[in-house]
Amino acid sequence: MPDAPPGPLWLLAELTYACPLQCPYCSNPLDFARTRGELTTEQWIGTLREARQLGAAQLGFSGGEPLVRRDLEELVAEARSLGYYTNLITSAIGMDAARVRRLKDAGLDHIQISFQASDAALNDYLAGTDAFAHKVEMARAVKAEGYPMVFNAVLHRQNIDRTEEILALALDLGADYVELANTQFYGWAFHNRHRLLPTREQLRRSEAVANRYREAHGDRMKILYVIPDYYADRPKPCMNGWGQVFLSVAPDGTALPCQAARMLPGIEFPKVTEHRLAWIWNESPAFNRYRGRDWMKEPCRSCPERDKDFGGCRCQAWLVTGDPAGADPVCGLSPHRGLIDRVVEAVNGGGAGAVNAGGASAAAGAGTAGDIPAMLFRNARNSKALHS
Ligand code: SF4
Ligand code: FES
Repeated sequence: MPDAPPGPLWLLAELTYACPLQCPYCSNPLDFARTRGELTTEQWIGTLREARQLGAAQLGFSGGEPLVRRDLEELVAEARSLGYYTNLITSAIGMDAARVRRLKDAGLDHIQISFQASDAALNDYLAGTDAFAHKVEMARAVKAEGYPMVFNAVLHRQNIDRTEEILALALDLGADYVELANTQFYGWAFHNRHRLLPTREQLRRSEAVANRYREAHGDRMKILYVIPDYYADRPKPCMNGWGQVFLSVAPDGTALPCQAARMLPGIEFPKVTEHRLAWIWNESPAFNRYRGRDWMKEPCRSCPERDKDFGGCRCQAWLVTGDPAGADPVCGLSPHRGLIDRVVEAVNGGGAGAVNAGGASAAAGAGTAGDIPAMLFRNARNSKALHS
């Protein structure tokens, strides 16, 4: 068994899968509605303490929508007393100016608000509910409390042509940081990828706009632009390696090396309610499964890139090829790169019939070759219907 790294640096606390929004690119599992129970306040506090003892320093509160949890302020206060740097990743629904003040008083360091688009019509269509006006109001409230304004927008085929308007909105709101993250295809986003992947031309135009804004406003607004890895020819070093720096705890206490991993076959992910976090991180079979190099197959096994990208993403390998130990299929050296190319070609004007091809696609409910299902919004009804 390879040595476990000293401890996670990052802890992502997915407090709840409950969410008032229905974004079709959500990274939560498709079957989230089947998971039962949420950790109690005391269980979360115990988890925060154990992770801090292991060395975790950065803590993200996420979901679902973490503001749904009424004990969020209590958890933030505990995190602050433990010495974490804390970040709230939120849609802003469930927030008002008084709650921003309470979170500030509890010691929250950072708030990131996600926008679906730059105008109410598209934003609220994608969110599945009226949310835009409130987000704008809360972005101003966050700024008024003295927080840096961290503005996040997930880009995809439906909104990427509005990159200019999105950046203008961010500028108007006084954003200090803007994250324009093209959709990564996990969870609901994978299910909807044929409707979400932008064309090459859309991507080129969007990046050009972002570069123009960087030149004009880079001194007051930092812009991070993440391209969809389907358009790359080498994979991202996902999570900086499996079980190396990142630990995610799902609402029901399941400990994961990444948010998407719980759908991987043949791995029993341990729960923080049943095991000490030190055992989970250092010794559990789940966290050791893809550490080191022994699990690698060719072409990764003998590739000079293997210690830089760790063979890419295990979840993407499973979703697209059906083999979680294979090379990430976005890699040009993967024998399965063709499965990604078929999607890219279909989106860029090739045959629509190729859109849904892929090893585990059918298992993930993406339909069959030859049809392009309507976009599926992330809600409990659709989650249950997919897994009935
Ligand atoms: Fe990375 Fe494997 Fe591709 Fe090499 S073959 S670049 S290790 S994914
Ligand atoms: Fe799970 Fe990349 S998202 S390993």
